[in-house]
Amino acid sequence: MTDVTGFDFQDLDINALADAAGRVAVFVPPEGTMNQSVRRLNKLTRGAVLRVLESEEFAKAKDADVLSISWPNGMSAEAVDIVKLAKRPDALTARKAGAALAKLGGGQKKSLLLILAGLNKNAAEIVQGIALRGYAFNDHKTSVEDTAKAGVTVMSTNPEGLEDLCKGPLAVAEGVFLTRDLVSQPANVLTTSQFALRAEALRDVGVEVEILDEDKLAELGMTAMLAVGQGSVSPSKLAVMQWNGGEDGEAPLALVGKGVVFDTGGISIKPSGGMEEMTMDMGGAAVVTGVMKTLALRKAKANVVGLIGLVENMPSGNAYRPGDVLTSMKGDTIEVITTDAEGRLVLCDVMWYAQERFNPVGMIDLATLTGAIIIGLGHDNAGVFSNDDTFADQLLDAARAEGEGAWRMPLGEGYNEAMNSSIADMKNAGGRAAGSCTAAAFLERFVKDETRWIHIDIAGVASVAKPTAMAPKGATGWGVMALDRMIRDGFEV
Ligand code: BES
Ligand code: MN
Ligand code: ZN
Repeated sequence: MTDVTGFDFQDLDINALADAAGRVAVFVPPEGTMNQSVRRLNKLTRGAVLRVLESEEFAKAKDADVLSISWPNGMSAEAVDIVKLAKRPDALTARKAGAALAKLGGGQKKSLLLILAGLNKNAAEIVQGIALRGYAFNDHKTSVEDTAKAGVTVMSTNPEGLEDLCKGPLAVAEGVFLTRDLVSQPANVLTTSQFALRAEALRDVGVEVEILDEDKLAELGMTAMLAVGQGSVSPSKLAVMQWNGGEDGEAPLALVGKGVVFDTGGISIKPSGGMEEMTMDMGGAAVVTGVMKTLALRKAKANVVGLIGLVENMPSGNAYRPGDVLTSMKGDTIEVITTDAEGRLVLCDVMWYAQERFNPVGMIDLATLTGAIIIGLGHDNAGVFSNDDTFADQLLDAARAEGEGAWRMPLGEGYNEAMNSSIADMKNAGGRAAGSCTAAAFLERFVKDETRWIHIDIAGVASVAKPTAMAPKGATGWGVMALDRMIRDGFEV
């Protein structure tokens, strides 16, 4: 059976090796012990495999490294990929081995025959690594060559069992792919309305979805969020996605995402150089949407609600301006210092709504909120702010287990004071010092005392210029895996 991520699980058949097309991958432990498939490949290649295993390169290779034999004699395949992998690798190393195969092109441009016989321990991690690293965003490539994707045939002595084991990890990969797709789409394609439609598409997998339009948002008093979007012809929208796989009536975990489909800066317009990157300013909303898809696909036994504020920040004759004073849904007033500090204006209303309506057991917001977090942490770690150490540790532990960088950042009275305004209850920008911390302090003003809350600034990690361990360059999907694991480990019944 083949699923949408292109994996086909079959019985091990060593007679199929000679005629396999594309790439063939096998796993060999550091001792160089050959299993039946490796012995067959060695025979077909008249000893080439053994020469690799006895080479200095193999001895020096690290766990999860790949040594390839190109255009092997005696076979149809273009390459035999020999992966050095300990018998009992940890999960991330196994995933890395899969990613290394995908990086060589296996399963993408070239079909991949993956022999996982005898490797059921963490075989699903290998499969997930191939899927994650094999992702490509080709929606806007017109040539067939660019868009064609070869598949992966997985051979195992227990294909049904392995396929079952892979269901969860592949559901996670699908959530990651949705997030990456959304982040990668340009703003003329992924308008607020189009994003809302993609959220609504999650109904197909069982998520309950509501879209609140501008009239409804005005009625609710979400003036801060509406102000950000008022200069755009694209209408502002709030999507509420509910997955209720847990106990009936139990309060949900709330995930809130910043969904600025494009951030020009508004009247406080950004410099033109690099502005095209602001198509990723809906990264927080994309992570929330991706997590909701994963939870539904794997039928998570948890109640989770995802809320995403979809707006476009444009300059226009109708745009909000610096100096404007806005009244938030909470009732607190905000002096606009710069229209480029728009994400917090969206989040403050959506967070307030999330707490008022759902009284959640915890609230996590994700946002490409500040350039300052890139100065502080670069592209390896997201910034994590929280009012609850235990809750924060749950997220940090999950991120570590999934290999997604996350680093705790401080809140505090000093940062909070920096947001005081002389004419309103607060202002929306606190100056150059500690820009990420003052942004978090702004958000903290909209967190109720009893709400456990985490704010994750993903400006540095949502989209990157270089490939990461598990993603090609561009959108990473950072956070889908960490949040899914956090929910699996701490919120499922
Ligand atoms: N969307 C940006 C933050 C951002 C910058 C994300 C670079 C990804 C890459 C955000 O809306 C913004 O403009 N923040 C300002 C805040 C400042 C005006 C207080 C910033 O970081 O400069
Ligand atoms: Mn901005
Ligand atoms: Zn922004």
